[in-house]
Amino acid sequence: MLLDVQNLKVSFDTPDGVVEAVRGLDFTLAEGESLGIVGESGSGKSQSVLALMGLLAANARVTGSARLHADSGPIELIGARSRTLNRVRGARIAMIFQDPMTALNPHLRIATQMTEVLTRHRGLGRRAAHAAAVAMLDAVRIPDAARRIRYFPHQFSGGMRQRVMIAMSLACEPDILIADEPTTALDVTVQADILDLMAELRTRTRTALLLITHDLGVVAGQCERMLVMRRGEIVERGAIGPVFAGPSHDYTRALLAAVPRLDGPRPAPRG
Ligand SMILES: Nc1ncnc2c1ncn2[C@@H]1O[C@H](COP(=O)(O)OP(=O)(O)OP(=O)(O)O)[C@@H](O)[C@H]1O
Ligand SMILES: [Mg+2]
Repeated sequence: MLLDVQNLKVSFDTPDGVVEAVRGLDFTLAEGESLGIVGESGSGKSQSVLALMGLLAANARVTGSARLHADSGPIELIGARSRTLNRVRGARIAMIFQDPMTALNPHLRIATQMTEVLTRHRGLGRRAAHAAAVAMLDAVRIPDAARRIRYFPHQFSGGMRQRVMIAMSLACEPDILIADEPTTALDVTVQADILDLMAELRTRTRTALLLITHDLGVVAGQCERMLVMRRGEIVERGAIGPVFAGPSHDYTRALLAAVPRLDGPRPAPRG
């Protein structure tokens, strides 16, 4: 077992009282496995994974356990010191957000940002790190990577920027990739390309995936197992096939009823 989450709870202190965002989450993730997390807006999906990364807002309170099983032994992520979390983030667990601009530094060239990650987490020298960064951009099919690595983030289109993010996040061959709505902001054809690319690179690096999405079609295409969250709790879990064929919870049934049939025509681009 790579990751073992037990009774994870997240609440927020607000002027209006306590908001219980995550109310006791249990799940495991095996090496190389892909787990989808779906659920309505506000159900606690993002806060759950931010808790694992130690990236919650200052008014958050977290309890429970999330053990990452490293070669050197288990690491408890909940309540870990920032020194531990800094080592885990990027090197062992990487995260991609809906808007890559939130994770990229707008003032630094991609080359600078990628080589920084590679020298820090993989201990490469500057030249080797630069070569590895170009190779990663090649791998995510950025045309003319050797030249474009000198671009600033805003010089890439939305889809290309998300490719850069994927390249950066997988450059250190993390154990786990967390992707929170990674393609929601992109149009449907670009979405499919990016998801395929992510799957291809993950197979190569044996990286496990925690994929948060509103799109059950995406879960069906990318994941082996899924969790359905509602109001901070898991209401359904299982392998994709059985959950799609016979959901046990009304809420999952409602979600599935709202999806265009998977064997039907592709939905038209939104927006
Ligand atoms: N800093 C905060 N202070 C108070 N409440 C917060 C804070 N951050 C998040 N919340 C609340 O926690 C709950 C869960 O939020 P979360 O971001 O996990 O939802 P989500 O499932 O990711 O939704 P979406 O699909 O819209 O991204 C929400 O009710 C949200 O308003
Ligand atoms: Mg969210």
